[in-house]
Amino acid sequence: MQKLLSSLGPVTAVIGAQWGDEGKGKIVDLLAEHFDVIARACGGANAGHTIVVGGKKHVFHLLPAGSLHPGKTVVLGAGMVLHLPTLLEEIRTLQEAGIDVIDRLVISPEAHMLFEYHKEIDAALEKRRTEAKGQGIGTTKRGIGPAYMDKAARSGIRMEDLEKDLSKELQARSPELERMYSIHVDIGKEMQQLKEAASILQGRVRDTVEILHQAKRILIEGAQATLLDLDHGTYPYVTSSATTLVGALQGLGMPWKRVTSAIGVAKAYCTRVGSGDFLMEADPEAAERLRTRGGEYGATTGRPRRCGWLDIKDLKRGKILNGFTHWNITKLDVLDEENVIPVGMGLSGDGKPLIREFRGWRTQTKGIKLFEKLPKEAKEYLSFIEEQTGATVSFIGTGQEREEMVLKH
Ligand code: IMP
Repeated sequence: MQKLLSSLGPVTAVIGAQWGDEGKGKIVDLLAEHFDVIARACGGANAGHTIVVGGKKHVFHLLPAGSLHPGKTVVLGAGMVLHLPTLLEEIRTLQEAGIDVIDRLVISPEAHMLFEYHKEIDAALEKRRTEAKGQGIGTTKRGIGPAYMDKAARSGIRMEDLEKDLSKELQARSPELERMYSIHVDIGKEMQQLKEAASILQGRVRDTVEILHQAKRILIEGAQATLLDLDHGTYPYVTSSATTLVGALQGLGMPWKRVTSAIGVAKAYCTRVGSGDFLMEADPEAAERLRTRGGEYGATTGRPRRCGWLDIKDLKRGKILNGFTHWNITKLDVLDEENVIPVGMGLSGDGKPLIREFRGWRTQTKGIKLFEKLPKEAKEYLSFIEEQTGATVSFIGTGQEREEMVLKH
């Protein structure tokens, strides 16, 4: 581990390379104790990671997975859109399990607030898209797009205003929302939520840029993933924030020079929730096998995830966009029973996927911790990822448990 840690250096980022849900939480959990600050940069409660706290499973949306580690400063950066009741609920859940996060939490004054009405606009826009085109984007309906719409229109409300009386401001927005989306803004409810948030988060809204500037060891916890990036992803079936490493640096206000490594996280296969092309989507039978073995149901929405195979073109693109130095290939064990493992190699001239088939290993990799113990075929599969992308596969997930991970030096 020590060797791997020194290859990462003091500032590393964990970034999803596919359509999210790669299992970033586990590597963050493994690395967090070696860093001083855990920072989340962009997005909001559309993210979801399942964490077992006090023997019970909880899904967290806003607090980074690294929050569970005592003594670590937790930064919520300027690029985020924050639904405050969700944040308070997560803080409470941790508190009930004996984990105090509030005194270690710092929130950028530049982060935007996400109100109940943003969620309602999200649902209204999805309905409109479905009526017009037969399908929507398949958003999480957490209000992400509309909150970023306000931000881009320069009419968003930021965390720096948390302690102000915002009732007049919200009242002023109400008639337009009623007219455009037939949404009634419940000012009383919004104000009551703001009041509670202001009292609990008192003193927690601070200059996070300065805190990160002073910090020595920083773990940047990416949210969503590269193919969902607003600029570089599979537009328009993307989220509304920047999900790449550079997007995270912008969201946190950190210069490029600080970063010493970037870990791309990809499943050994691939999943997607929501609409949009998925070139390597498996046939229904194989998809169901992967879904069952991999437990592929959305943490935020509970939707069954669409399942398919690894697309090496996406990983290569992810490497270019993010400058990955290391890979964490997760859930290798989900492929244990496959006879043949297809991998997408790009498109042929007539627009059909080019596929390379790998022989399955047909033996259990679950729980393996040593690279040498992996079957020959699995090693070949992993070497192929390294050769094609030019980044080393250093972390290999072989099961759900914390220890079920191969560290390759
Ligand atoms: P939104 O971010 O809720 O607007 O959703 C836009 C698209 O991004 C939809 O296809 C969502 O399913 C997807 N998405 C957003 N966040 C995540 C995530 O954390 N994991 C996987 N998919 C996500």
